[in-house]
Amino acid sequence: MSIESFRKIVENRRSVRRFTNEEVPKDIVNDCLRLALLAPNSSNLQPWEFYTAYSEEAKKQITKACFNQNAAKTAAVIIVVVGRTNTWKQNSQKLLNEWPTENIPRQVVEYYTKTVSLLYTQGPASILGFCRRILMSLIGLFRPVPRGPFNKTEMRTWAAKTCALAAENIMLSLKAHGFDSCPMEGFDEKRIRKILNLPADAFTVMIIGAGKKADDGIYYPRMRFSVENHVFEL
Ligand SMILES: Cc1cc2nc3c(=O)[nH]c(=O)nc-3n(C[C@H](O)[C@H](O)[C@H](O)COP(=O)(O)O)c2cc1C
Repeated sequence: MSIESFRKIVENRRSVRRFTNEEVPKDIVNDCLRLALLAPNSSNLQPWEFYTAYSEEAKKQITKACFNQNAAKTAAVIIVVVGRTNTWKQNSQKLLNEWPTENIPRQVVEYYTKTVSLLYTQGPASILGFCRRILMSLIGLFRPVPRGPFNKTEMRTWAAKTCALAAENIMLSLKAHGFDSCPMEGFDEKRIRKILNLPADAFTVMIIGAGKKADDGIYYPRMRFSVENHVFEL
């Protein structure tokens, strides 16, 4: 792989707000989703789900919950990226069950049977997380310690980081396949939850409209602040 081909994909991805009526073939979307699953993710616990909407009916419902944004209204397919805050336990077991080598390294077993519970168990009303926060604050006076996640909101941040990386993989993969996308956080989360029939621990991180860019699909020239504003050397 060359940096030039990668650069081309990154530089040419834009948030496209209007798409043509050309379809995105399902096998291309599925390929992008397979690549999304290769995104780095916290402890490899893969707290993500992806819901695709191709039918006019499904897209109409989601578009309405996205405040009728053109990026949803004109999309050939809509992908909803969902984070899960409660699947880490079952996924820890699944990782051990499906471990790719015959002998699972001892540290791995230890990590997925003990460490993850210590890190992510919050308990009812996050009471265990609260106790952990106090304990960590005390130990933290003497040595570096994890400073979260200590409650359900922080678990959401934990899952959202991972899901955002997957979302980027989807958008770059779509571009590499010759299609365009627009990430959206402009949506009514409660309505999306209802449409997708999400369980209580699930939440919508991002909604991606995808398709082929229409001639008037990009609203503004690309604009970023200069590197010096954001990049610092210690
Ligand atoms: C988390 C997130 C949420 C966004 N939400 C919306 C949105 O609801 N509607 C929209 O039109 N664009 C949305 N965008 C797109 C940004 O406006 C866009 O990325 C930014 O203006 C830079 O433009 P570019 O992506 O073309 O480089 C979102 C982007 C991100 C990363």
